[in-house]
Amino acid sequence: MLISLINDGPGSYHIHKAGAIMPSNEFYLSQFQARSKINPPKRVIIFDTSMRDGEQTPGVTYTNDEKIEIARKLDELGVPKIEASFAISSEGEAEATKKIVKLGLSSMITTLARPLREDIDKALWCDVPYVHIFISTSDLHIKTMMKTTREEVLRQSVEGIEYARDHGLRVEFSPQDATRTDMDYLIEVCKAAEDAGAEMLNIPDTVGVMTPRMTFEFFSELKKHVKTPLSAHAHNDLGQAVANTLAAIEAGAEQAHVTINGLGERAGNASLEQVAVCLEAQYKIPTGLNFGKIAEVSEMIQHYSGIYLPPTTPIVGDNAFAHESGIHVHGLLAHSGNYEILSPEFVGKKRRIVAGKHAGRHGIGSMVEDMGFHPNKDQLKLIAEAVKTLGDSGKSVTDTDLYAITKNVMNIKGEERVKLKEMVVVTGNTVTPTASAILIIDGKEYAGAAIGNGPIDAAVKALTNVEKGFRDMSLEKFNMKAITGGTNAVADVTVSMRRNGRNVTASSVNGDTVMASVEAILKGMNRLLESEEQ
Ligand code: KIV
Ligand code: ZN
Repeated sequence: MLISLINDGPGSYHIHKAGAIMPSNEFYLSQFQARSKINPPKRVIIFDTSMRDGEQTPGVTYTNDEKIEIARKLDELGVPKIEASFAISSEGEAEATKKIVKLGLSSMITTLARPLREDIDKALWCDVPYVHIFISTSDLHIKTMMKTTREEVLRQSVEGIEYARDHGLRVEFSPQDATRTDMDYLIEVCKAAEDAGAEMLNIPDTVGVMTPRMTFEFFSELKKHVKTPLSAHAHNDLGQAVANTLAAIEAGAEQAHVTINGLGERAGNASLEQVAVCLEAQYKIPTGLNFGKIAEVSEMIQHYSGIYLPPTTPIVGDNAFAHESGIHVHGLLAHSGNYEILSPEFVGKKRRIVAGKHAGRHGIGSMVEDMGFHPNKDQLKLIAEAVKTLGDSGKSVTDTDLYAITKNVMNIKGEERVKLKEMVVVTGNTVTPTASAILIIDGKEYAGAAIGNGPIDAAVKALTNVEKGFRDMSLEKFNMKAITGGTNAVADVTVSMRRNGRNVTASSVNGDTVMASVEAILKGMNRLLESEEQ
C-alpha cells in the first residue's frame, strides 16, 4: 500500500467507519451550530429520483432492463426511497415500475402522479406503496400554464391526496415551483395537504432560483407552520442545488431529493454523492447509505445515461482522489490527511498518483517502486526529468509511458511480448463495421475478428478476441482527443485496462483514429503482461 490509512494527529482525525477517515470537525461544527442557530434533524432520508427527474435530463432514457438494474444498485446502496418513474407518462414506464416493485427490494418504490384519478390509478396498477403527488402552486404556473385558480389547485390537491389515501397509498406531496409561490398561499396548500393525509411535504425549487441563505429562511418559515416533515428538491440552474439542499437540512428538512451524478432537468438536481457525503462527513448526520457503493453506482449511471462526468467532479470524478503535484504527493506520503479529507475507499474509489510535469521525485519514486523497479538516486532524477519533459510537451503521462521511461533510463532491455502483424477494418454505409487482427504473442500468431458499433469498436474487439488470453481483459476507460482541429486532426487516445485485478493506462497518438486506438490497446496489453510478471 502506497499510503498509510492511519491518521493520528491528536484531535484532528478519527476513523469514522472501517477504512473511512473523516476530518473530525465536530468541534468547528458545534461552534458553527451554536453561532448560526442551525437546526438540522438527527437523520436524513435520501429520496433518489434518478429514474424520474434524472431521466428527464435532455437526451437520457433508460430501458426497462436498465431501470431494473439501477433500482437493484440503489437498493444495494441503501437508498430508502426510489422514485422509479412518472408512471402515467408511458406504458413502458408503468411496466418498469411494476417490475421494480415485484423485485421486493428493501427500498420503498414510488412513482410521480398529478392529483388526478387516472394518474393515481396508474400508480395503484404499479403496486407502489407510496405515491408522489405534485401540482404547481406559483401564480405564474397557475395562470399561464394551467390557466386555473389558486382555489382550484387547492381543491385538486386535497382531492388527489384523499383519493390516494382512500386507496391505501402513502402520500408525499410537492407544490411545484414552491420557491416562487406566495408564502401565505404555500402555507395554506401545505396545511391542506397535511390535513388530507400527506406524510411528507416536498418543497421543489423547480427552476433553481434559490441561494443557500434564501433556502434556509424559506424552510425555517415553513417549518413554523406545518408539523409534517419537509423534503428539499433543488435544481441546479445557478449551480446551488447541493448547497441549497444542505441549507434546507440546516433549517430542519428531514429528506433530500437527489439524483446520481446530479442528472435532472436542464442543469440537473442535487447530486446524491455530494449531499450524502457532506451530511456524513461534515454534519455527522446519518443517511444509512452504504457509501462504498457510491462510485460503482455513479459509473453505472454514466454508462447507461451516456453522460460522462468531468474528471474534476467531487467524490466520483476521475481526479477526485488523484494527485500529481510534487508537494501534494510528498504531503500525502507523510500523512494522507494532508491532502485528502476522506479516504477514497470510503466511497469505493482508489487513490491515483499521477506522473506529470508537476510531479516530484517522491511521487515518481513511489510509482516506479510499485512497478517493481528500484532506481538509484541518479536514475530517479533522470526518470523525473524525462517525465517533466513529456509533460511539458502537453502530453498526459500514462503509467505505460512511465514504465517505458524507467526501463530506458535503467537500461533494461526486453522485447514487447505482443506485436501487431495485421489489422484490417471494413466500414461504410452498407456494411456492419468489421475488423480482423493477427497478433504475435511470444512469437506465435493468433487471429481475432469482431463486428462493432463502429470501426474503432470493431478493431478493439478484434484485438481482445484473439484466441489467446485477452478475453478476460476489460477496457475500463477509452478517451479520444483531437489534438488539432479539422478532419485531418491527430487523435490522442488514452485507455485504461484491467486484467486479473491489475489496472494500467496507456496512450497513443496517430493521424488515423483507428490506429491510435489499436496502438494504445497494444501498449496496454504489453503493460498488463509485464505487470503480471513482476
Ligand atoms: O422540480 C420539480 O418541481 C419537480 C416536481 C415534479 C417535484 O420535479
Ligand atoms: Zn425536479
